[in-house]
Amino acid sequence: MTTIGLVQQKGGVGKTTIATNLAAALSGRGYSVLLVDADPQGTARDWAAKSENTALTTVGVDRPVVHEELPSIEGFDVAIVDAVGKLEKMTVSVIKASDLALVPIQPSAADLWAVGQVIDHIESRQEITGGKPKARFVISRAIGSSKMGEQVQDILDEAPFGRLESSVNQRVAYARALGDGKSVHQTSDEKAQSEVDAITDEIEQILQLNGQ
Ligand SMILES: Nc1ncnc2c1ncn2[C@@H]1O[C@H](COP(=O)(O)OP(=O)(O)OP(=O)(O)O)[C@@H](O)[C@H]1O
Ligand SMILES: [Mg+2]
Repeated sequence: MTTIGLVQQKGGVGKTTIATNLAAALSGRGYSVLLVDADPQGTARDWAAKSENTALTTVGVDRPVVHEELPSIEGFDVAIVDAVGKLEKMTVSVIKASDLALVPIQPSAADLWAVGQVIDHIESRQEITGGKPKARFVISRAIGSSKMGEQVQDILDEAPFGRLESSVNQRVAYARALGDGKSVHQTSDEKAQSEVDAITDEIEQILQLNGQ
């Protein structure tokens, strides 16, 4: 099983939005997908409870034991782990469990609280393991084609890993879909669908998944 963790200690950056859409997109491509809600707020579980997508399985892990529990789960090609913002131990546990850590980052947010910490946690883990997890930023909630904030660009330039080329814009469809238990592929917003498709393509390539 290949594991993708959405990690970023700042709240509201789009972890759950990206986790749910990525899970649905990979499932739509034929992978058997496990969505792991590692946030005691349970947003991904609430989403799954409303969802009519029977191909997706969602479980909750509320304690920082994701890295211990995931390896014993069988029968899935891919696990997507939606980590909690504030609990540092949970963030570390999800990083340990992941083959790819995705760090959503807003392009112009002045408040980049704790992103340095997440980068440090990923880097320390990579040093111990010789490179696992791979890691990428993903620009989230971008508005139009607005220029990347300077602070954000500085972080991207100095970080030990790069970002996905494709990004997620701020779109009503994402917010509505999350509340309705849907993915953007179940809405009429084709731009949002293309964004999710592009991110999914890149991730398939980075992890060398090939339509299991
Ligand atoms: N690309 C987007 N376009 C529009 N709204 C978005 C987008 N991404 C996230 N949102 C909205 O912003 C809010 C926070 O998003 P989300 O729950 O995905 O963030 P999070 O990082 O998981 O937050 P938390 O740290 O609280 O778990 C939600 O109301 C969501 O609908
Ligand atoms: Mg969340």
